[in-house]
Amino acid sequence: LYRFPLLPVRGIPLMNHIANSWDTIWAFRPDPSDILIATYPKAGTTWTQEIVDLLLHNGDADACKRAPTPARSPFLEIVSPPPIPSGIDLMKNMDPPRIIKTHLPFQLVPPAFWENKCKTIYVARNAKDNMVSYYHFDCMNKTQPEPGPWEGYISKFMRGELAWGSWYDHVKGYWKEREKRNILYLFYEDMKENPRREVERIMKYLDLSLSDEVISRIVELTSFEIMKENPMANYSCIPTHVFDNSVSPFMRKGQVGDWRNHFTPEQSKMFAEDYDKKMKEVNIPFRTLI
Ligand code: A3P
Repeated sequence: LYRFPLLPVRGIPLMNHIANSWDTIWAFRPDPSDILIATYPKAGTTWTQEIVDLLLHNGDADACKRAPTPARSPFLEIVSPPPIPSGIDLMKNMDPPRIIKTHLPFQLVPPAFWENKCKTIYVARNAKDNMVSYYHFDCMNKTQPEPGPWEGYISKFMRGELAWGSWYDHVKGYWKEREKRNILYLFYEDMKENPRREVERIMKYLDLSLSDEVISRIVELTSFEIMKENPMANYSCIPTHVFDNSVSPFMRKGQVGDWRNHFTPEQSKMFAEDYDKKMKEVNIPFRTLI
């Protein structure tokens, strides 16, 4: 239905409706109080959006029930078409601070975010689990190109031929800028290991100070099990001809290490050799690769 080929914007393959609205996206001007959540797709975006929304509302779940996630926390680069509401349109009717989501690589983030010194949280997930999650998402998401067979998907991932481009360049791009731009750089694996520690880290970064009880509530409300059943967070608002949850649910497994169920030993070895070449210039402390 919507599975159009990707179109490049400054060398990055994007969904064609995003590429066609590029000038509008690039010219977007956030409020200085807006908070940007940036990720490569499937790294833990929705989870972080929920945590930040609860932090801003002192753990009040009712405040987060006012709308489902894409409407409550706009997706910057979706300008058209339906069914995911246009982020830029939504923001016109929202009071700052807004929680803005983007999958754009660092160099494509509208420059006004940096001019306005917006708080920015980047979430990175280890490459193999990120790819597995993206593969299942591309199977169920009819707005992105067909993933094709798993074997070929690995090659596409390694060549950066998926929507939003190369995972390697994405995680490196934000990593290199994190100090200059005051970006809070988080890891999905850390969030799984100790969600409370990471919620507190986000709270401090946002200059908030909530009670221990409220923090505990936020940790509970943002657990995988609760978010999976929460219609305001689990994307069940998107019609099934767009997100087909019967193919794979949006809230799929929420685990670290699911790549072991997908990669053969040969694929793992080939992937690791290529990974080392691409990642050797930086020392980003990813875990669970072996
Ligand atoms: P899996 O496909 O591995 O299950 P994004 O929000 O960036 O699209 O990322 C989606 C991935 O994050 C999915 O991974 C989803 O299950 C997982 N996820 C969403 N909410 C989560 C939570 N509260 N805890 C752990 N994982 C979560």
